Amino acid sequence: MAFNEEYELLEAVEADVEQLVADHEERRRHWYFHDLIPWERGRSFKDEPWEESQCTINERARTSLVLNLLTEDNLPSYHLILEKYLPEKSVWKRWNGLWTAEEGQHAIAIRSYLLTSRNCDPVELEDDRMATMKVGWEPGFESPAELFAYTSAQELATRVSHRNAGRITDDESAFELMRNISADENHHFVFYRGVLTAMLKESPSTVLEGIYATFSNFQMPGVGIPGFLRRSVEIAKAGVYNLRVHHDRVLVPLIDYWKIGDLTGLTTAAAEIQDKIMQLPGKVIAQAERFEKRFGPMAVPT
Ligand SMILES: [Fe+2]
Ligand SMILES: [Fe+2]
Repeated sequence: MAFNEEYELLEAVEADVEQLVADHEERRRHWYFHDLIPWERGRSFKDEPWEESQCTINERARTSLVLNLLTEDNLPSYHLILEKYLPEKSVWKRWNGLWTAEEGQHAIAIRSYLLTSRNCDPVELEDDRMATMKVGWEPGFESPAELFAYTSAQELATRVSHRNAGRITDDESAFELMRNISADENHHFVFYRGVLTAMLKESPSTVLEGIYATFSNFQMPGVGIPGFLRRSVEIAKAGVYNLRVHHDRVLVPLIDYWKIGDLTGLTTAAAEIQDKIMQLPGKVIAQAERFEKRFGPMAVPT
């Protein structure tokens, strides 16, 4: 069991978390993926095996949807992380059940779309799913603040990435589907951001460390996905998700929302971390420039 010594911080924000769960349940409307899949386009793979020429959306959109789907496929690992790190029998467990149930629809829905519309190789997709889930994902969070800084940034990044992936398909069904999934990610993001906000009020010096640990080395949880690097470069060039998008849509908005630059009354060590966090956006832009020198320009969606 990880970070026992910081359970006080989790306990201190439990009342806020109760309220955040209640707010989430009040706000989110469940949607049904079967309403959004173009089932009328479905054909038997036995009678008519898959061929790339049957695809109806462009290659970068296909790569983006498949990468986003494989990331969603690793849900058992993500569920396990929350289960493992958070206290037993509490509001945290209730949240994990609810969140997992909502997330569960995402992979089902994207897979249904891709197979029905023949926009992916079904054999390759299944082989990649197996490979991805066998590796799983274990980021080794060292504190509750690090866990919730990560989930805040990750849900926001996923919201942006799903929405942009839907946009570049030029397919109304895919667009609508990804819009709904993205709306779910937004609700999750609001929840996790709220948890971190409560923690920040409680113990700013401790929480800054967790934010820095996450933001200084942020990665999507896709490392075990076959061809992750190649696929990431493709979606970066397509503007679905890349370092500039990360800077504009995730890093800077979160630093601003938490008013990190304005926090006062910090320990000396935390004040140093505060400075380091404030330098991160500049570093990400420098990284983006290096990427572009190597791979060519990245699209930035409007
Ligand atoms: Fe999701
Ligand atoms: Fe989510």
